[in-house]
Amino acid sequence: MLTVENVSKSYSSGGNVKQVLRGIELLVGEGEIVGLVGESGSGKSTLSRVIMQLEPPDEGAISFNGFPVDRRSRKAFYKECQLIFQNASAALNPSWTVREILMEPLRTMKGDRNAYIRHMLGKVKLAEVHLKKRPTELSGGERQRVNLLRSILVEPKLVVCDEIISNLDRLIQREIIDLLIALNQETGMAVLFIAHDLQAVTYMCDRVYVMKDGEIVDESTKVEGGFEFSHPYSKKLFGALLG
Ligand SMILES: Nc1ncnc2c1ncn2[C@@H]1O[C@H](COP(=O)(O)OP(=O)(O)O)[C@@H](O)[C@H]1O
Ligand SMILES: [Mg+2]
Repeated sequence: MLTVENVSKSYSSGGNVKQVLRGIELLVGEGEIVGLVGESGSGKSTLSRVIMQLEPPDEGAISFNGFPVDRRSRKAFYKECQLIFQNASAALNPSWTVREILMEPLRTMKGDRNAYIRHMLGKVKLAEVHLKKRPTELSGGERQRVNLLRSILVEPKLVVCDEIISNLDRLIQREIIDLLIALNQETGMAVLFIAHDLQAVTYMCDRVYVMKDGEIVDESTKVEGGFEFSHPYSKKLFGALLG
């Protein structure tokens, strides 16, 4: 469904060129939950921005269901694919109520938008009382659920989640992960789950890519609840988890 082919990206500052992504090849199939792990600075967020057409790649191509995705076609792409950021507070307009935040992506929707929102609230375990609140009046977990709900209102086929559980405590992390799994099972929505939390990735993902210094160095499909790696780096990374 989502295909990333030979994507490279560099940044230059003060005469120095820094190669951040090198020849990235990545696929997300329909309804699949795919993990992307790697230490901080390995290029995960840059890749998510390139996929979402927020920055152009130097080289390579992104396509979705066989159609090339570029800056010009990105509006149509956003109906199919949504990005969810780590920092829900920054992503939500602080002066808007939750209702206003949720109405915004539905601007062009015909029919009863309020009824639709009420129906969808339950999917992320929020209630009508939350609609009147502003982001600062919500807990961290509630904010991330509003953020998640806002992204799924357009019923995307894929959500790219960039470290969406990183600032939350364990219990709330688990809640968000279970919501994503439930949405995946109910609607077939695929997930590209970017994280450095290997336990969370092992728990929820069908397949995982390991990234190191801007390259995908390994890939594994889950068998009997676990992953098998060939690259020493990923063995070490996941070895620590088992160890
Ligand atoms: N806009 C930018 N300009 C220059 N360097 C950047 C920019 N964005 C990211 N980088 C650099 O690219 C590398 C990868 O960053 P990032 O994609 O955020 O990694 P990750 O999300 O895996 O932590 C880092 O070294 C970072 O400093
Ligand atoms: Mg990042």
